[in-house]
Amino acid sequence: MPAQVKKMGPSPLSLKNRHLWVILIESQMSELEKQLDELIEILRAGPRIAVLTGAGISAESGIPTFRGKDGLWRQFRAEELATPQAFFRDPKLVWEWYDWRRGIIGAKEPHAGHRVLARWERYFPHFVLITQNVDGFHRRAGSQNVLELHGNIWEVRCTQEGTIVENTECPLRKMPPLCPACGAMLRPNVVWFGESLPSETLEEAYAASASCDVMFAIGTSAYVQPAASLPLLAAERGAKIIEVNPEPTPLSSTADLSFLAKAGEILPLINERLPAGLGRT
Ligand code: OAD
Repeated sequence: MPAQVKKMGPSPLSLKNRHLWVILIESQMSELEKQLDELIEILRAGPRIAVLTGAGISAESGIPTFRGKDGLWRQFRAEELATPQAFFRDPKLVWEWYDWRRGIIGAKEPHAGHRVLARWERYFPHFVLITQNVDGFHRRAGSQNVLELHGNIWEVRCTQEGTIVENTECPLRKMPPLCPACGAMLRPNVVWFGESLPSETLEEAYAASASCDVMFAIGTSAYVQPAASLPLLAAERGAKIIEVNPEPTPLSSTADLSFLAKAGEILPLINERLPAGLGRT
């Protein structure tokens, strides 16, 4: 073995570094334990829970977010792919992009964090799940009542009649797909820039946010309106705000507790600590 690559024993410096790391990790863990205890007390005091999720909750499943380092809006121009004008200008191009995204989503699975939220729907007597995600992962994980603010990528809508049907064909045989009833083009049933959110769903989301005791904001950059205003409305009405996101967001200063961590790691930890007497079961 050449002298330069001879295996060295730990230097006094690396031992010292290791010691500092242990102290750092221990203090982070005790901070996390403190936060988890605090959260359980908050949940004891307020039984009505609302949860807002964003693209970050599906990141650990392998679905790209929009604004992160490899986010979709860093690689693609929203105005060429996610507006009604773009669709009517070039429906094939827009459908090819959605078909590609459906391919990614269809090949991945929801993770433990999605499943915890599905369990909470049964555990807490008052629980509303609001999502900005179109991937359908919450339903696939077992959530039954999901307010999908931005629609669902597995649904198509007739551009003529407005009928919405499920469509899971992937890849699509024909792009754009056509309505079997009237022959008009079908579009993805998602909300594009410049479009309104489905009004009933939005009303329900406002009502849940205005009346909850605790609101979780999980995996959202809190930039896109009106979703970003929901936790602010909840806070205004006295709810505690719990954020789960590895990065700080504009919501962090309003949050009562910020878990700077991944949803798939933190949600199971919270779930493990929920006492039996707290929820429905
Ligand atoms: P963004 O892509 O804007 O933000 C994702 C957030 O998730 C970021 O704040 C990340 O730090 C965080 N994140 C990343 N990995 C995470 C993890 N493992 N656990 C928890 N958080 C994590 O996504 P949204 O806020 O959902 O709208 O974006 C909102 C809307 O903007 C989308 O619904 C979409 C987009 O334009 C439409 O298409 C209409």
